[in-house]
Amino acid sequence: MNRRDFLKTAVGAGTQLVTWRSTVANAADDERPFRLAFGACARQERPQPIWDAIAGRQPDLFAFLGDNVYGDTRDINVLRDQYKALAAKPEFARFRSRVPLVATWDDHDYGENNADSRYPMKRESKQVFLDFFDEPKDTERRLRDGGIYTAYSFGPPGRIVQLILLDTRYHRSPFSMVDVPTALLRKLSGRGPYRPQQSSRRTMLGPAQWAWLERQFSAPADVRIVATSTPFVSSFTGSETWANLPNERRRMVELIRRTGAGGVLFISGDIHRAELSAARDATLPYTLWELTSSGLNRSNLYESFNKNRQGEPYRGHNFGLIEVDWRASEPAVTLQACSRDGEAMIAQRMPIAELQPAAL
Ligand SMILES: [Fe+2]
Repeated sequence: MNRRDFLKTAVGAGTQLVTWRSTVANAADDERPFRLAFGACARQERPQPIWDAIAGRQPDLFAFLGDNVYGDTRDINVLRDQYKALAAKPEFARFRSRVPLVATWDDHDYGENNADSRYPMKRESKQVFLDFFDEPKDTERRLRDGGIYTAYSFGPPGRIVQLILLDTRYHRSPFSMVDVPTALLRKLSGRGPYRPQQSSRRTMLGPAQWAWLERQFSAPADVRIVATSTPFVSSFTGSETWANLPNERRRMVELIRRTGAGGVLFISGDIHRAELSAARDATLPYTLWELTSSGLNRSNLYESFNKNRQGEPYRGHNFGLIEVDWRASEPAVTLQACSRDGEAMIAQRMPIAELQPAAL
């Protein structure tokens, strides 16, 4: 059994801790860098040729970060049909037969554009989502009365890559908006209607997910990839980002600091372009990086207003690729945003040693 087949079996069984080396006696293959591909925002009624390019980069695993289909409905049968349309796409079916998939959602596949905790069909939508992604019947994720957040760990002690999939919809409070004339003006430049709101009562994750995340950050891991459908490090507040709830953003930073969690980096989707962001200042435990990749078959030509952006955004259809290489004299993580031909359009390499609480 090769590593990809092993991960497919393990992820399909809802395994929360996957120790590759102890299960498969193929140490040579284990020396290959761990490769996670991810992507977001895929219109199911349009072609999705990008799947062949993603397979071409030979990922061990693919993570969907939301807007995996565009449901935009309160009719659960309509939502189920949108997933069926995705499943029926030959290019996606081919990819799915080769690469194990994990997923979280964003607004359109959760149910409606910009939907939050008030979306009335969220329990039903959760069932449709978990059925589509083959979540076993008896996992905590399926049985809890709450969102679809979950985590996986890959690799032996000292080389553990943790993938944390947050749910930024099920428990999220409403965002505040600018007044109507300002919103209309903003619309012309693609800036979106939201504004930051300082309030300790508004939440992104909800209390139970925060407590769960603390347990994840306290578990052993060397690299922690935190997947959030809407961007975390980006400074832009017009669209749905963590910057609209500064208290919750600070809470995440405090949690990383308090638990001493090293190796945290963020991945996100939603915005229909790819960009790399970094936040560095004395209030942070270390430089916080984020690779945003979106969409798999959608793009956005508006300007990027994200002050934490590093370099230029990429506006073509794209997917993200994270490679964790333990073999180098200085073990490192490489973040890439790749075009629909599989070519890296944005790339950033960072030594894992720099993602530690003492590094700033
Ligand atoms: Fe979205």
